[in-house]
Order: sequence, then structure tokens, then C-alpha cells
Amino acid sequence: MNVNLNSRPRSGPKKSRSTTKKFFLSVSLLIKLVLLLSGFLLLWNVVSLVNKRSTSSSSSLRNYSGDQKYHVVFSTSCSLKQDWQSYLFFFHAMIHNQPGDVTRIVSGCSQEQEISMRELHQKQFAIMNPNFLIHFTPEFGKQVEGFSFEQTKYWNKPFGLKHWLEHRFGYRYEGDISTEYDDDIVVLVDPDMLMQRPFINDFSKFSISIWNKYYREHPELLLDKVTQGHPAAQDYSFGEAWLTAASANLTYVVGPDSPVHHVTTKEARSVYAAGPPYWMTARDAYRIAYHWSDFLPRIFKLKPVFMAEMYGYCMAAAHLGLKHQMARGFMVSNVEMTEGEGWQFLEKADDTVCDVSQFKDTVPHVLHFCQRYSIGEYFINKHIFPTGLLTCDFPLVELPPLDILSKVNYSHYGDMTTELWAGNDREYYKRTRHAFMVCSLFPALNEAATFYKKHHCPNGANYDQKWNHFREKDEYMKVTP
Ligand SMILES: *[C@@H]1O[C@H](CO)[C@@H](O)[C@H](O)[C@H]1NC(C)=O
Ligand SMILES: *[C@@H]1O[C@H](CO)[C@@H](O)[C@H](O)[C@H]1NC(C)=O
Ligand SMILES: *[C@@H]1O[C@H](CO)[C@@H](O)[C@H](O)[C@H]1NC(C)=O
Repeated sequence: MNVNLNSRPRSGPKKSRSTTKKFFLSVSLLIKLVLLLSGFLLLWNVVSLVNKRSTSSSSSLRNYSGDQKYHVVFSTSCSLKQDWQSYLFFFHAMIHNQPGDVTRIVSGCSQEQEISMRELHQKQFAIMNPNFLIHFTPEFGKQVEGFSFEQTKYWNKPFGLKHWLEHRFGYRYEGDISTEYDDDIVVLVDPDMLMQRPFINDFSKFSISIWNKYYREHPELLLDKVTQGHPAAQDYSFGEAWLTAASANLTYVVGPDSPVHHVTTKEARSVYAAGPPYWMTARDAYRIAYHWSDFLPRIFKLKPVFMAEMYGYCMAAAHLGLKHQMARGFMVSNVEMTEGEGWQFLEKADDTVCDVSQFKDTVPHVLHFCQRYSIGEYFINKHIFPTGLLTCDFPLVELPPLDILSKVNYSHYGDMTTELWAGNDREYYKRTRHAFMVCSLFPALNEAATFYKKHHCPNGANYDQKWNHFREKDEYMKVTP
């Protein structure tokens, strides 16, 4: 794709001719008068704008935090089931004072669903912060015959992102793709990520240990912030898998002339194996979204796996030569990971780990709760989550005692298996990680549920901290939102 980034078609001023000179003379006089008047008005406006700059509401799209504008965005399908995740996400964006706006992209609603969803958004999310927004797109997840929706539902992420960037900011992939929003920062996350700190475009205060191995070995390459052409992302440790997924016919996916043909294995592993949270300028976001959506169906054809969606992102980044500053420490998720995630902040943690406030300055940006977590009899898994949590009658979650690690040395899981943690065990570190996740997630759920109950239960609500997966499962799992 050849895109001219500099030239914008210009239409020069045209002089029209007429036979009735008198008429035009009076018109031009009138115009001069209007110009003079509007000149005065303009001057007046500029003066008052300078005075009132901070209170200006001239652009509702923007929220100023220093000079940087932020847009955090996540994609969901049009189902109520994901609502508790969106609720958690918005709620924690609120309590962490995320600057800018946060947008939920919802794909595939019918017209009636869109109306209810919009009402729900006003009622539940806009009250947290008027800069929490919703954007609707068509369904992009059902394009492939012979494959289930489960396999392709993540396609809503690239196509939804592209749709949002086009409709919200006016991006188009033709001619000059620039808009006035080019330097805004877009942070693309997943709804099952619990924010622990705001996304601020300033990495200068982070320890070098948050970056992946490549950048730790090349600290001279590290930038303090995301800029045009320099995005950042979490390293997802899948190495060059995104490239080999298309190796059967790379030309079919990216064309004969793409820079992807020259990406080395080392580059594929160290600067392109990116995943959420993705940070980039709005302009880079649009360039990536465009190629991501373009490549994904063809990657899926060569390798029909749900990971094709993530691989598509990497392919697009490599196609554009957008090397990512890759972190291992934007996220934690998998307690088994030895190198690839941001668990370093727990290295020296002791049995007080459940007092999670001690990690507020060192914890990664998000807890990606896509695994199962348990310490003692406290278990959580998003796939068997009590969706009734955001109702008036459902109790809050029973919290583990802060000193639980001085009492128990095991994890009990939903499938009724148990793992014992012993101090001489090489995998003993998992005990601390499980405890940290449970002791972060459970209070976070309760805070969000309490906010819900305070605002949406005029006839009172159940605030008992009582729900436990093992004990009350049968009674409460029946409650539907
Ligand atoms: C910016 O967002 C904050 C909340 O994060 C809100 O209180 C404030 O009114 C917003 N400012 C503007 C100018 O929209
Ligand atoms: C790869 O794709 C190209 C473009 O679609 C096609 O012309 C070519 O025959 C394919 N090659 C192989 C080996 O499948
Ligand atoms: C858990 O294991 C550690 C290391 O073996 C031991 O020091 C501690 O006493 C154990 N805690 C409990 C509650 O059994």
C-alpha cells in the first residue's frame, strides 16, 4: 500500500466572473464589512480563550492532562456476560484517575440491544466519569465459514479499533492519513485486565527490570515515552510464532514487497511479539489497525487458531517497521511464568503479601485475570465467575484474612484439585503469586460491587462479605444479573 503522507490535495482559490460588476462591488463591500466584524469577534474570542483556557470545553473529545491526551480502549462483544468485566475495568479506571477518556467498543449489537446497552452505559458508567464512553460497531467475528464464533470473536478487536478510529477521529487510509489527533496516546487493553495504576505516557520512573530481556541488554534504546513511530507493549513470550504462523505463504499475507520478509528471528522475538496493553500514538494506532484487519483473515486461513488475532497485530507492526519497546512488566497473569511477565515486584515478598497496598508503586499496570487463582479456600476463575455479583441481593465476596499465608500452604481449585506449597519446592514462588492475585482481585470485586449497590439499589442491598466459591456456590450461582 502506497500512502502519500505529506501531500494533501489543495484546491486553489478560484475567481469567478460575472457581467454585473455593480452587484459584485456591493457584495465585496458587504464581505469586507463582515470580515472586519468577524476579525473583531475573532480577536475577542482569542483573548477570552487565553483567559479561560483551562475551562474551555471547545472539544469534548479531549481531556487535558498536561499536554498529553489519552484514550484507553477495549473491545467487547454485545453480551451481558462480559458486563462485570467492563464494570470492573471502568470502575478501576475511575479509582486510579485515568486521565483522558476510556472507551468500550461493543461489536455486534442488534438495534434493540444497542438501545439497551446505551441506556446501561449512561446509567452505570457515565455516572462514574462523563469521559467513559461507548462505541458501537457491526459484528466482525463471524466472517469465516466452517469456524466457530469462539475462534474468530477476537477479530472484533482489530476491526473494532479501526472502526472506532475512523468514526471517532476521522481517520481514513487514503491520501494524507493525518488528523489533529495524531499525537494523542491510545492504550488498547483487554476487558479482563484489572488496572493497578493509570496509563501515563512517562516511563522514566520505572525500573529497567520492567523491560524485556532485549531492552534490558540494550538500555541505550529505551525511550521514556511513546512517540510517533515508537509504540510500546507487553511482551507475550510467543517469540517468532506470529511470523512462522504465516510462513506457508508470507507473500499471500503481506504482499511481495513488505518489510516483513526481512524481519530477523531476533527482531521477531524481541520487538514484535507484542500484546496488550498496547500503547501507541493515534496515528500509529490507525496504521496498525488498518493492516492488522487486512492481514488477519489471511493469517487465519493459513493457520486457523484464535491466536491469529494477536499474530496479526505483530505482522502489521513489522509491516510498518514499528518496533515496539517491549515490557515484561506491564502485566501479570500466569503464576507459572519465570521470565516473561512482571512478577519481579514480588521477589522479596513475604507472608504479608496480602497487604497489597505495599506494592502500589511497583505493581504492573494491569492484572490480566485470565487464569485460575487460589490460596487456601479462596478461589477465582473468570470462566466460572458469580455473574450475580453486580446485583442488589448477591452478597459480596468473602475476603481472605491478610495473614492467610501464615496459616495455609495450599491452593484449592474449582476442579477440586489441591496443590501443596512447601518451602523446599522449586515452585514455591507460585504460592505468593496466587495469594497476591486473590488478595488483589477479591477486594477489587467488592469495591466495584459496593459502588454498584450504593448507586443502583434504592431498596437496600446485601453487603455481607459471604460469597465463597466452595461454600455458597450452589445457592448463589443461580442468581442472574
Ligand atoms: C477530565 O476528566 C476528569 C475526570 O478524570 C473530569 O473531572 C474533568 O471534568 C475532565 N475535564 C474536561 C475538560 O473534560
Ligand atoms: C502464495 O500466495 C500467492 C498470492 O496469493 C500466490 O500467487 C501463490 O501461488 C501462493 N504460493 C503458494 C506456494 O501457495
Ligand atoms: C509453609 O511453608 C513454609 C516453608 O516450608 C514454612 O516455613 C511455614 O511454616 C509453612 N506455613 C504453614 C502455615 O504451614
